[in-house]
Amino acid sequence: MRSDSIFKDDIAKIIIPERVLQNRIEELGGEITSSYQHGEEVVMVCILRGAVMFMADLSQQINLPVIFDFMDVSSYGVATESSGVVRIIKDLEENIENRHVLIVEDIMDTGKTLKYVVDMLQTRNPASIKIATLLDKPERRVVKQINADFNGFEIPDEFVVGYGLDFAERYRNLPFIGVLKKELYS
Ligand code: XMP
Ligand code: MG
Repeated sequence: MRSDSIFKDDIAKIIIPERVLQNRIEELGGEITSSYQHGEEVVMVCILRGAVMFMADLSQQINLPVIFDFMDVSSYGVATESSGVVRIIKDLEENIENRHVLIVEDIMDTGKTLKYVVDMLQTRNPASIKIATLLDKPERRVVKQINADFNGFEIPDEFVVGYGLDFAERYRNLPFIGVLKKELYS
């Protein structure tokens, strides 16, 4: 973290430094590229807003023709716990019928959000749906039928911020994944 960072006093610890993040994303890009046919077009669906950084960096490591699209969903429930009832705030612009969809998500927690999004996109008859998540908290999984095809890091059950992830819309612009000091959210 830069020594003059205005968020310096808010972060208890850095769990994934910038260099480690970027190296893993480069690897993931390679894995994703090899999982498709050579030259196959992929519609990358970024789940707003947390996955914006991951979408931007991951897409540059995928050696395929990639289309960008964005979906904003909000789950009903208290701030740090999703209920499984998901409301679409912004739908896709692309018609995904017969196309290869790669959902790009910041973190899989209970799995409820992704389950809902996958089920909903499946009804539009895409050629395939795969999921890439940067982070996974396996201890928190409630929906067992859902798994990421590509996952950056498994992390313990701690509330994390940075690299797109927020607390009250802040900290998204930190270049690493860190744990917030408890006193800030409890
Ligand atoms: P579910 O439970 O549906 O939740 O898998 C996924 C969504 O929950 C949010 N989430 C977090 N956001 N730090 C965050 O900033 C976290 O540690 C965290 N855990 C879950 C996130 O919005 C994700 O899309
Ligand atoms: Mg959030």
